[in-house]
Amino acid sequence: MSVAKPIPHDSAALHVTGHARYVDDIPLPQGALHLAFGLSTIAHGDIKSMDLSAVRAADGVVLVMTAEDLPFENDVSPSIHDEPLLSTGSVHYMGQPLFAVAATSHLAARKAARLAEITYVEKGPILTIDEAIKAGSHFEEGPRIWTVGDAAKALEAAPNRLQGEIEMGGQEHFYLEGQAAVSLPQENGDMLVHSSTQHPTEIQHKVADALGIPMHGVRVETRRMGGGFGGKESQGNALAVATAIVASKTGRACKMRYDRDDDMVITGKRHDFRISYDVGYDDSGRVLGIDFLQLARCGWAQDLSLPVADRAMLHSDNAYQLDHMRIESHRLKTNTQSATAFRGFGGPQGMLGIERVMDHVAHALGKDPLKVRQVNYYDDQSGGALPPRVDASADTPPQSISAKKNTTHYGQEVVDFVLNDLTEKLAGSSDYAARRAAVAKWNAENPILKKGIALTPVKFGISFTLTHLNQAGALVHVYQDGSVQMNHGGTEMGQGLNQKVAQVAAARFGISLDAVRITATDTAKVPNTSATAASSGSDLNGMAVRNACDTIKARMAEFLGEYHQSSADHVMFDDGVVRIGDSEMSFAAAAKLCYENRISLSATGFYKTPDLKWDRIKGQGRPFYYFAYGAAVTEVVIDTLTGENRILRTDLLHDAGSSLNQALDIGQVEGAYVQGAGWLTTEELVWDDKGALRTHAPSTYKIPACSDRPPIFNVDLYENQNAEDTIYRSKAVGEPPFMLGISALMALSDAVASCGSAYPDLQAPATAERVLQAVQRVQNA
Ligand code: MTE
Ligand code: MOS
Repeated sequence: MSVAKPIPHDSAALHVTGHARYVDDIPLPQGALHLAFGLSTIAHGDIKSMDLSAVRAADGVVLVMTAEDLPFENDVSPSIHDEPLLSTGSVHYMGQPLFAVAATSHLAARKAARLAEITYVEKGPILTIDEAIKAGSHFEEGPRIWTVGDAAKALEAAPNRLQGEIEMGGQEHFYLEGQAAVSLPQENGDMLVHSSTQHPTEIQHKVADALGIPMHGVRVETRRMGGGFGGKESQGNALAVATAIVASKTGRACKMRYDRDDDMVITGKRHDFRISYDVGYDDSGRVLGIDFLQLARCGWAQDLSLPVADRAMLHSDNAYQLDHMRIESHRLKTNTQSATAFRGFGGPQGMLGIERVMDHVAHALGKDPLKVRQVNYYDDQSGGALPPRVDASADTPPQSISAKKNTTHYGQEVVDFVLNDLTEKLAGSSDYAARRAAVAKWNAENPILKKGIALTPVKFGISFTLTHLNQAGALVHVYQDGSVQMNHGGTEMGQGLNQKVAQVAAARFGISLDAVRITATDTAKVPNTSATAASSGSDLNGMAVRNACDTIKARMAEFLGEYHQSSADHVMFDDGVVRIGDSEMSFAAAAKLCYENRISLSATGFYKTPDLKWDRIKGQGRPFYYFAYGAAVTEVVIDTLTGENRILRTDLLHDAGSSLNQALDIGQVEGAYVQGAGWLTTEELVWDDKGALRTHAPSTYKIPACSDRPPIFNVDLYENQNAEDTIYRSKAVGEPPFMLGISALMALSDAVASCGSAYPDLQAPATAERVLQAVQRVQNA
């Protein structure tokens, strides 16, 4: 069978030889135009005058557009109508597109865009969390508040209590391929768009609205992205819409791609957060009551900020049973890029809040943080009856109003918890206890270089919290030579979705993988799709393809059974062969015979995730079909004179259920960890006090390089099966391991803690500068 095998990525050879085709590689027809945006140079204000005569007169310029030239909708928002493609007179962040220039070359368009003479009436920008709070600048009327139990009472009653705060920065997606789109006008006013997008249906929808035509007039094709990481869920809308309008006005093909600097200045990033906490706990470290304040900086437009902030609230428990919790979440509107989806979608921020609490509580008690984490874990599910949790609390708060056992703060029962066992296994395989002792010994003997080690867990909820998005479609064709073409609504961004889904198709028909052709995602083949996001690509599209294959198989089996005077139940598909009772024929021969007997060999497939129910206002229900789990041990060393630091060794154990493809899943786990560690260590976004993003190129924004990979990097998949009936009992893997990177920050905190007795209070990203400051704070306390 082709599933559960470590098969390489279908495009691996194309990737490494440079033959994989991206949007920018598509040959353009003659006369194609290239597009660039003219960007605002202030963060907040109104445009007083805009003189574009020099732009129009520049070499190669064919067309210049402002908001007035847009024929229909001037909106590229994925949520509410608050994101004009081109400014209508007001400016909301530095880098906002004000006008568009179409020219005969990419360079000519970019050069011309710089020639505009624009004057503004400036208004004071709201840039920071504090400024937004002070100005009352929110996206929802007030904060969203969820409670379980009675946090205030539990805090009062708790024998120990502490408060703290963690700031966590945003993150640039740094997909290797920048945003790009090409629009090709078709007959009759129709438009074909090639877009580097995670969400072809939304591109189709937005382009149709902008052109004033029904969705049937727009076809969007996405062969692959050179990375998306959430940054291509909504941020590609502007390029696709702008090129489509120019193509429609001029009748010429039009392409747009952002250069790296433009991409970083224009597009949204991960939300930065500040989370404050007030926690009450007993002497074992068991959390008895907790109050979180989550402040999310969302930027100028709503985009996906509400569900991102919701997901942060949903992951405030991470792996822990918290009976008495209150979370207050503010979604702050600022004059900065509109923050957007980024791997984990708010989950990492929420989870870092509680992981920081575990670290802080352990420090206050002088305990190994792992022990404190374990005392707070949910219980592993062992055949229905839950074993009692370690309960060291003498002073138990009122039970009547507390959360049900193994139930999250939003009321979902956790029935597939494995972290007690997974943690034991990882602690064993990584030699955690002995290495922790060795670190302590090292730190006692070495005054300058200090080491730290931490083990942190991940529990991540799988499903879109907007329930209707949990659906997918597929279209499968079996040709008369037995070859199969497979289409589904998901998009490929490097994660290996197409290969996994092709494995499913090959397994259903019992044929080899090379008989299955993977094609570009195409809105004309599979309509009304969701973004490939929330890690649910293979869960949803794998099932949809399975259903399409099974429809065709059933038709084939029924015919072949009758033809051989047997029954459909006796028809088996395996090893490229179809067996009917005692006789057998190749799958190709079977396909041919079916064709000749007028059996339809093409089918659509559909899947929707069952049993989901969610009220986001109350914060109650079952938003997730299941949870994915993992844990990480990171060991670091810091230089206490400079703050410089390194990861020395990392051990990861991750639960991908019954993996569809172990090679791809391990690749996802490794990449996600490194990206997560990068977020919390070296990747720092800096805006100046005028609202200019100063870190807009790799020269100033430091993503992990190959040389930053842990020199010892042990990555394994946890042996498990999904408790829910997912495709071959696999689990989603795209986002969850991102949060394994939290162990890097906690290991740094451990290293800094060895410099004195005060709590390190390390903020993220823990750049060398911040590590040094923390060391000095701890030494001087
Ligand atoms: N892996 C690679 N190589 N490139 C990417 O852009 N995006 C991540 C993750 N892994 C990404 C990736 C994000 S944000 C998500 S939601 C999932 O892949 C989406 O794909 P899936 O649902 O098929 O896992
Ligand atoms: Mo991923 S942030 O859900 O695209």
